[in-house]
Amino acid sequence: MSLSLSAAQPAEPADAVDGVWLECIACGDTFAPFEEICYTCDSCDGLLEVRYADLPTFDDFSGTGVWRYAAALPLESGVSIQEGATPLYEVPRLEADVGVEALRIKHEGMNPTGSFKDRGMTVGVAVAKELGADRLACASTGNTSAALAAYGSRGGMETLVLLPAGKVAAGKIAQASLHGARILEVEGNFDTCLDIVQDLAEGGEAYLLNSLNPFRLEGQKTIGLEILEAFLADYGEVPDRIVLPVGNAGNTSALYKAFRELVQAGELEVDDVPKLTGVQAEGAAPMVEAIENGADEVRRWDEVETRATAIRIGNPVNAPKALPGIRETGGTAVAVSDEEITAAQRDLAEEGIGVEPASAASVAGLRELRAEGVVSDDERVACLTTGHLLKDPDAAAAAGVDPEPVPGETAGVLDHLEQ
Ligand code: F0G
Repeated sequence: MSLSLSAAQPAEPADAVDGVWLECIACGDTFAPFEEICYTCDSCDGLLEVRYADLPTFDDFSGTGVWRYAAALPLESGVSIQEGATPLYEVPRLEADVGVEALRIKHEGMNPTGSFKDRGMTVGVAVAKELGADRLACASTGNTSAALAAYGSRGGMETLVLLPAGKVAAGKIAQASLHGARILEVEGNFDTCLDIVQDLAEGGEAYLLNSLNPFRLEGQKTIGLEILEAFLADYGEVPDRIVLPVGNAGNTSALYKAFRELVQAGELEVDDVPKLTGVQAEGAAPMVEAIENGADEVRRWDEVETRATAIRIGNPVNAPKALPGIRETGGTAVAVSDEEITAAQRDLAEEGIGVEPASAASVAGLRELRAEGVVSDDERVACLTTGHLLKDPDAAAAAGVDPEPVPGETAGVLDHLEQ
């Protein structure tokens, strides 16, 4: 089995429900959705994908936000806080500086809880409800926990989040806390948290809402659909390339799936599919290593470190879905330093766009690839910025200018300004 752009639409199996089923990407076994809880294949432990008997065309989409794309999703509606429909900013100075034909920033930090995770949660939490789950859980570098806490409590369910102790940005913990999640601070990194939460889910303790959950990635497809629709409206063509930060490679997998489904529906030519280009921090770059070595499997990095704590991940669980996505679309993967990430965070801030460090990795990676000549000057590019500046106020303050103490009277302030 391989996740090819030219794969034919699979036949509907007997266990499909209303034209929807789950299929293992490794062995092809199929499973009924919404009945028994399964995250990976019962037969071979491979990753699962949601499949549809009917794939929509652009004409089937109406309304706004994630649920505009209901025809491409496993349910008709979800537990919603009006997620999606995020801005696709023009950045004329940055575009000229990087030196590409067009550069647009898809700012996912403008979602309800400040990251793209909301798109997955509106679907995933609705499926959890359908399955009758009463407790939801995730491991997280922060954003998933914020989104799960908000959507879980809106859906009336308990939430449990496992975070790597001391490595989660302040804004994210504050969100999980106020939305009422039970927060476990684990001694260990994100990958350890994910190992534990998978054990808990297998033991029936909670319903797992990490990106291993195939339903969550369905919601995240809508990032790709929004970008494509906007480029078609503005330029008459889809973008040449989409650059995105990579942690567990869930978004990379989701965007690739959106493109495959559009190809199967006859809406997109294989040659026109945007080149998926992943960016990791140098201190946590197992996907980049696999792409550079032409490897089929990703080596787990036990030691990871980066200022971009959201992508401080050594074992990208969605690699079997994402590696073919990067390769089949003619994309690539690149690692950037923490200094390059901070510089890109400032570049975006100069255009009025406030992002957390992991988000700026996409712009830093584009710069790097442009300098290497991998990206050419005639390309139209969309960079994904995945989380809002306020997620990590400490990183923003460290990258920005320092406040200046002044006396509490105008003359003193004027004096100070003249210095
Ligand atoms: N950017 C941000 C801001 C993130 O929070 C994450 C992942 C990524 C990029 C990477 O996305 O996993 O789809 O490749 N954050 C997860 C979390 C791991 O727990 O919040 P990916």
